[in-house]
Amino acid sequence: NKADETFPKDFLWGGATAANQLEGAYLEDDKGLSTADVLPNGSLGEIDEDAGEECLYHEGIDFYHRYKEDIELFAEMGFDCLRVSIAWTRIFPKGNEESPNQAGLQFYDNLFDELLKYDIEPVVTLSHYEMPLHLVKEYGGWRNRKLVKFFERYAKVVFDRYKDKVKYWLTFNEINAIFHTPFNAGGLILEDGENKEEIKYQAAHHQFVASALAVKACHEIIPDAQIGSMSLAIPFYPYTCDPDDVLKAMKRERELFFFTDVQARGYYPSYMDRIWAEDDIDIEMKEEDEVILKEHTVDYVGFSYYMSCAVSTFPEDKEQVSGNIVGGVKNPYLETTDWSWQIDPKGLRYIANRLYDRYQKPLFIVENGLGAVDEIEEDGSINDDYRIDYLEAHIEQLGEAIADGVDLMGYTSWGPIDLVSASTGEMKKRYGFIYVDRDNSGEGTLERIKKKSFDWYKEVIASNGEKV
Ligand code: BG6
Repeated sequence: NKADETFPKDFLWGGATAANQLEGAYLEDDKGLSTADVLPNGSLGEIDEDAGEECLYHEGIDFYHRYKEDIELFAEMGFDCLRVSIAWTRIFPKGNEESPNQAGLQFYDNLFDELLKYDIEPVVTLSHYEMPLHLVKEYGGWRNRKLVKFFERYAKVVFDRYKDKVKYWLTFNEINAIFHTPFNAGGLILEDGENKEEIKYQAAHHQFVASALAVKACHEIIPDAQIGSMSLAIPFYPYTCDPDDVLKAMKRERELFFFTDVQARGYYPSYMDRIWAEDDIDIEMKEEDEVILKEHTVDYVGFSYYMSCAVSTFPEDKEQVSGNIVGGVKNPYLETTDWSWQIDPKGLRYIANRLYDRYQKPLFIVENGLGAVDEIEEDGSINDDYRIDYLEAHIEQLGEAIADGVDLMGYTSWGPIDLVSASTGEMKKRYGFIYVDRDNSGEGTLERIKKKSFDWYKEVIASNGEKV
């Protein structure tokens, strides 16, 4: 009984997750080692191949064995969709095998069946901050053109297998992260003396081609599916109206927009010519790439939104803030989270308008949320009013964006159940409506407990966004 006031009737409400941050079972059923499995301190930390239990991704929140119980809770909240990712290493443990691992395929069949049992649409990311570690060691990660073929093979296998179950897909999670966290986003280990920027652009090019080939395969194999791009969206505000600040903000913005420009428009934006010429960057492209990119653009633009940043020509004398991937100068008008990310609900309306103006394609907000420390009260309750406030303010701004004329497909809040953080590899930073009893040292019963925000989100969904 959804009211039809601000949000469209078929708006998709739900939550977003990533395989490596919640599944655990990191070696079970012949899964191969992934890049995430050797990042005990998250994407901003160092690689440690000997990481043991201190790497919380190994066990995650044991979703691999508890997904039924968790999906039941998502269904209770009334989810229309759940964003999950497939761990490439469950399907192709090393990445370069000829045929897939049946046990891995079976797991996702079971998972999608369980979602569909409750009419929850799976929204599936092909690559969310992980890839087979073997492809890093043997081929140097995405710097190597061979990865395009391996990825295409993987994508075709999963499209074919799940064609009747999955109608919403995303190619690479936060594809624009490769410049900031090159190992977890692209399997890149960069050596001193190498032209690091060039290698990152080369790897990005390979991902663009792989993404376009996945779009092509998806359209051929599942004609009624939609497949989108996924970028980290951060509005960069000039710190002052000094034209130098404005131009600097424009440049920062292009560092992020560049990726969606290629994926949604189908060609490299002209501003890249100057950047590459000035930085002495030469990218190898095959003749057919131009056509591949042009002909297989994404159906929708997915993005994550957590914060905005201010940009100043003189950052040195100003307070700094951080973020999951990029930080910047503190904006004096905004509050920050405990992890020093700026809270800016209106920035979501702003960036949604900017992206829609730029691409004229439907948008899907596939991540948004507040990472915070939650306390369990003596009576067992968890009163996360701060999370409700954060989400409420952002959803309100989504309504504004829709009123502005933006075509929005849906909203999936990040981590509807607590999971392991991507940037820092910890459990302490929680996003969920559902608490998971596990701490930073890996201790805990893994019990699930509903937080106050659980019932709040349930109401939001039941009222189709009217009750925020
Ligand atoms: C996004 C990622 O960058 O932000 C997620 O796509 C991640 O994987 C989320 O978890 C929140 O970041 P963090 O570091 O708080 O987990």
